[in-house]
Amino acid sequence: MNFSNKQNNINLIISKGWIPVLFIVIMFSACKHNVYIDPDKPPIISSHCDSDTVYFQNTILPLLVSNCATSGCHDKKTHKEGVILTDYASIINSNIINLSNPENSKIYRKLQKNNDDRMPPPPADPFTPEQKSLVLKWIEQGALNNECIENADTCDTVNVTFNKSVVPVFEANCYGCHTQPNPAYNIDLKNPDDLARIVEDGSLVGSVKHEAGYFPMPKGYDMSDCDIAKIVIWANDTTFSGGGGDGGGNGNSCDPDTVYFQNSVLPLLVSNCATSGCHNQSSHVEGVVLTDYASIISTGNVKPGNPAGSKLYKVLNGGDKRDDDIMPPPPAPPFTGDQKKIIYDWILQGALNNSCDEGCDTTNVTFSGTIWPLMQTWCTGCHRGTYAGGGIHIENYDDLVVIANNGKLMGSITHDPDYSPMPKNADKLPECQIASVRKWIEDGTPDN
Ligand code: HEC
Ligand code: HEC
Repeated sequence: MNFSNKQNNINLIISKGWIPVLFIVIMFSACKHNVYIDPDKPPIISSHCDSDTVYFQNTILPLLVSNCATSGCHDKKTHKEGVILTDYASIINSNIINLSNPENSKIYRKLQKNNDDRMPPPPADPFTPEQKSLVLKWIEQGALNNECIENADTCDTVNVTFNKSVVPVFEANCYGCHTQPNPAYNIDLKNPDDLARIVEDGSLVGSVKHEAGYFPMPKGYDMSDCDIAKIVIWANDTTFSGGGGDGGGNGNSCDPDTVYFQNSVLPLLVSNCATSGCHNQSSHVEGVVLTDYASIISTGNVKPGNPAGSKLYKVLNGGDKRDDDIMPPPPAPPFTGDQKKIIYDWILQGALNNSCDEGCDTTNVTFSGTIWPLMQTWCTGCHRGTYAGGGIHIENYDDLVVIANNGKLMGSITHDPDYSPMPKNADKLPECQIASVRKWIEDGTPDN
């Protein structure tokens, strides 16, 4: 067929109004060159893993997410050169796979390069030859969105050891983000101290089990139940010598250099911030709830070890941006230097859910040494100024004597049903503190 003939045919088709036919012809010829992959195809799940097949969900996605979909590279936010490597649809839509000529796929060519243009770029390690050939083989097998489920009895959870069970899981899912030179979140999983810290503070287990209050790890996809089980079993069976963590246990005495969440941080936040209209369960302004550990960690965007990067701490000084509001907002007074330091040190020390036993000594109760510090920790944040809760002011000695004498103080802190239970939105005070207040009242509310 020569050119003029072809032109005649096209004219004929148009003149007959067969435009749809023309479209089909064009689409068909396009498909012949660029094999189409449906980005939205749900995963094909096999009930066993075939050793000759490379599975996208089990092998390729973890590899790409942990080595390439990091922030500043190919995550959704940065998407360098329009390439996003966070999930099947984005990978396919990034136009980096060529099914008719797998070795010519952009993604494979980038992995193969030896110069600075290679991916991942230096100083990150290049993919190993095995990792590169997995990517190539997956494309040769059709770049499918496939997944296999390991047979439950091939998951060895009996002989769990760090080197044989945990390291391979970290290698496939975590090291890409959590090793030098720029370990995400300052957690270097190859550093024994970092590892000890996240085992002891519960964040390793919390993050891989996707528990509330922890950032779900790895980012962007789920690991197999078998891999999660290996990490959890290892973490639960391992104790690190010399560690100071205490997952919230009781019975330990207070170390003066440690800031305890239950003793110091929670009361401060409850009485200054978890007030009605602000950050209690029902108001949760801007989604922030500051009534309990899990809510404080997640909605306060607390980054253990990094106070300056934690929203909870930043807002006390007015936040990043000029127009960000300082918390607590006026007319409430800002946190004092000492109060800010409590929050700062607690985050720096790992933002643990810890507590200590202050011991109970009611023989030597004084207003200045026992009662007023207690009020400042638990009560004054809500009971001052124009918005004093229930119109009750607790701003100085005289104010407190009023409610001590009319029975409201004891009634509210003992949760007597005739009174509103205090501190509001929080657990009852420890018995020892209640006993101290009772003693002070029995002594005749001395101003000592
Ligand atoms: C794509 C990069 C990436 C991968 C892959 C990744 N992490 Fe993370 N990880 C982060 C970032 C970033 C943070 C900080 C929190 C956030 O932004 O989600 C973090 C936080 C954490 C935390 C602190 C969680 C908390 O709530 O305190 C732990 C523990 C952790 N990762 C462990 C792991 C483990 C174990 C794996 C592998 C199973 C893994 N991470 C895989 C980037 C990653
Ligand atoms: C989160 C804010 C908040 C905290 C913390 C708080 N209060 Fe209150 N308080 C209120 C509000 C609001 C009321 C009004 C009644 C109500 O809404 O429950 C109130 C009422 C009271 C009353 C009157 C009770 C009655 O039944 O007449 C007393 C007394 C009182 N508070 C004492 C305290 C003491 C003592 C503490 C510290 C141990 C404390 N409050 C901590 C908010 C708070």
